[in-house]
Amino acid sequence: NSFEPCDFVLFGTMGDLSRRKLLPSLYQLEKAQLIHPDTRILGVARQQMTKDEYIAEVKSNIEKFSDKEICGDTWVRLCERLDYIQVDMKDEASYKQFDTVVDPERVMVCYLATPPAIYGDICRGLHSCNIIDSSVRVVLEKPIGHDLDSSKVINDQVSEYFNESQIYRIDHYLGKETVLNLIALRFANSIFATNWDHNCIDHVQISVAESVGIEGRWGYFDDAGQMRDMVQNHLLQILSLVAMEPPATLDADSIRDEKLKVLKALRPINTSNVNDTTVRGQYSAGFVKGQEVPGYLEEEDANTRSKTETFVAIKAEIDNWRWAGVPFYLRTGKRMPTKVSEVVIYFKRQPHNLFGDSFNSLPPNKLVIRLQPDEGVEITVMNKVPGLTSSGSMDLQKSKLNLSFSEAFSDDRIPDAYEKLLLEVMLGNQALFVRRDEVEHAWNWVDSILEAWKHSAEPPEPYQAGTWGPVASIGLLARENRSWYESK
Ligand code: BG6
Repeated sequence: NSFEPCDFVLFGTMGDLSRRKLLPSLYQLEKAQLIHPDTRILGVARQQMTKDEYIAEVKSNIEKFSDKEICGDTWVRLCERLDYIQVDMKDEASYKQFDTVVDPERVMVCYLATPPAIYGDICRGLHSCNIIDSSVRVVLEKPIGHDLDSSKVINDQVSEYFNESQIYRIDHYLGKETVLNLIALRFANSIFATNWDHNCIDHVQISVAESVGIEGRWGYFDDAGQMRDMVQNHLLQILSLVAMEPPATLDADSIRDEKLKVLKALRPINTSNVNDTTVRGQYSAGFVKGQEVPGYLEEEDANTRSKTETFVAIKAEIDNWRWAGVPFYLRTGKRMPTKVSEVVIYFKRQPHNLFGDSFNSLPPNKLVIRLQPDEGVEITVMNKVPGLTSSGSMDLQKSKLNLSFSEAFSDDRIPDAYEKLLLEVMLGNQALFVRRDEVEHAWNWVDSILEAWKHSAEPPEPYQAGTWGPVASIGLLARENRSWYESK
């Protein structure tokens, strides 16, 4: 990896992702002095705008989505890097301007924060003005396709002009501090490294709950559903990091090779087992954090007969030596009581209880990895209640060893995932980006579930907004004498 200057070209600079995440992240990187002094940032969009107007837009975005009180020094430095060009991204002729605005001697990063349907047009446009060489990096946002076949079409379009080593596919969960910490926790601590398999672990739960609904994105969301929006990418990436074998090194392909093996080992879910292993839900009207909210079918622009799922629970199994017989329960939904993402590792119970009646069987140890909010790591342990008793018996109590990031690292601001990922692209490190074969294996597994759902006459089970999903989700675990971890 090297800290060198680049031309950072942001296609779709006026879009929602750029406004909310990318421009504020560039500002934060600037503040932390993590952008090379000679790097330039070039916004690209359809709108006609002068450079000054663009700069004013960027400033107002930062004030809205990042620092209300913009930091003067940082802004002065960032401003000097900014430029804007108007491009009709579907028109090859419009790319001619790149000849003069980018420096062929420098690394160029093309961030495509546009709908994937025009990725091919943009690549072709860049190619037509002869500026693609091996130093150019291209960053792709999700969704990469709607299923395996359409993802192949998009990847083929891009790979006509770029090698895999130049392509950075974003899954922003891979930039979250606590998701990255999964690698540190697992491989820097022998207590976890040696207990991380079917001998010691009973089951794993991965929950990504959101309190928001679809945020006015009916058009996109109804076509995608929670499975494509969250499971195909974020949940399967977390699962891969939790379940993968130790990589040989931390380089990009060592990590991605191991994640891929997990995706390949996922037991297929199809019409033969879909009813036993999956639950789909759709939220109805209810209250979230005391606010009344409409049901999914009453959202603006809704098709009132939609069967799109806004909640998914899955019992996933990984058919390999390490994880034989250890279910991974995945759960994600919109309009749940609160926003919380957690990985919970349930260890096996002790084989014998020495401590008599107070506990028929000792509760299992749990490792709770809180991804967001209130980032941290917590282990539940059994502990003797201090003190004397007339019977001489030992009273036990469940206690928590708790590492809270906000307490342990109180001086450090937790950077947004996009800050980390933008930095990694500029450094040329692909480890936190998803390789094509990972995307395709994830789609393969997800497609089979979606296909099986299509054959079912049952619509998704309704759940009231502000609850933890449909009743069947509780049943998915209850029938195996387990229950979902209750977040605080
Ligand atoms: C996005 C999904 O990828 O992730 C959204 O498209 C979802 O629907 C979002 O709300 C959740 O991300 P985060 O970082 O807020 O957990």
